[in-house]
Amino acid sequence: MNPSLANFILSKTPKSILHPAPTMNTAIPLNTGATIPALGLGTWQSAPGEVKKAVVHAIEAGYRHIDCAFCYQNEDEVGEALQDVISRGIVKREDLFITSKLWCTFHTRVEEGLQKSLDLLKTPYVDLYLMHWPVPMNPKGNHPLFPKLEDGSRDIDHSTTHVQTWKNLEKLIQTHPERVKAIGVANYSVKYLEKLLAQATIVPAANQIENHPLLPQQEVVDFCKAKGIHITAYSPLGSTGSPLFKDEAVNEVAKKHNVGPGTVLLSYHLARNSSVLAKSVTPARIDENRKLIVLDAEDMQKLESIHKNGITRFVYPPFGVNCGFPDKPDGIDLSG
Ligand SMILES: NC(=O)c1ccc[n+]([C@@H]2O[C@H](COP(=O)([O-])OP(=O)(O)OC[C@H]3O[C@@H](n4cnc5c(N)ncnc54)[C@H](OP(=O)(O)O)[C@@H]3O)[C@@H](O)[C@H]2O)c1
Repeated sequence: MNPSLANFILSKTPKSILHPAPTMNTAIPLNTGATIPALGLGTWQSAPGEVKKAVVHAIEAGYRHIDCAFCYQNEDEVGEALQDVISRGIVKREDLFITSKLWCTFHTRVEEGLQKSLDLLKTPYVDLYLMHWPVPMNPKGNHPLFPKLEDGSRDIDHSTTHVQTWKNLEKLIQTHPERVKAIGVANYSVKYLEKLLAQATIVPAANQIENHPLLPQQEVVDFCKAKGIHITAYSPLGSTGSPLFKDEAVNEVAKKHNVGPGTVLLSYHLARNSSVLAKSVTPARIDENRKLIVLDAEDMQKLESIHKNGITRFVYPPFGVNCGFPDKPDGIDLSG
């Protein structure tokens, strides 16, 4: 086609056609050939008695991606919700994208860990199974999820490594492809990814990390992009009691687009080609979080300047020192 004619057509084409607004179910490709819906409902800290209603409401409102984990201790209720919506014909299982995670005390028992989640979730398979943290913990310690040594420090399993856990997961997906469609990791830094990739035969489909304008983790995002590993952002709103809703830059961008700050915080990840998880048990917020917009370069620049005032992390790993993770400040006990 004549270049000037092509330019003329482009100049007359509405922006909404050239850059269509993302929706919560915009399908983002994974390295497996499958896709992941752009927005998922988070379920960490969704209390018993609340999480079933939240998942049912979300799916009725159009969400198709639900993020779960054995460690959240609520997968049974999420399973009740899934059973409810599927039995009422609201959705088919194959139209949902369900993620679960292998907990640290199950690193040497991956098949058992997966089966426990499948039973609780009342589903024959998960779409994505993630190693929740790259730190194995003692499977025979003094607590099934959070074992501690006598001195109060975490009971880490030093007889194995996260790389061995990955090999266990590779074997699991090869032997049970009907139970797990893709495997990935969570909370991996570049250092951990390099160690894993040096020995992996399957490149993780995803790395789920804490990600928001106060913790952009650009080096991890760039590394994963180069290796074909999809990023899913967790705690995008800044988790419980977040300061991000009051952030000046976030509110300026929100005002410019006539949307709430939550929309800006979630849309930030779509501009980076990541999927994003938003947790809520409040129906009005579950509805509100569906709204996503296209942020332009100026918006992103503004949001990217926020972390320069000092990086803030909201989720600290449930391990003591010497695991290569930031130490959690006193008084915080989070295990997302
Ligand atoms: N892989 C990991 O290690 C890991 C770690 C952390 C999180 N995650 C996953 O990521 C999900 C999301 O992260 P998160 O739960 O830490 O935090 P988040 O989604 O950033 O924030 C959740 C908090 O924001 C509130 N909220 C939600 N929508 C809102 C809105 N529109 N306006 C105002 N407040 C709103 C929620 O309250 P209400 O519920 O009361 O409405 C809740 O207190 C988790 O649920 C979990 O599935 C994974």
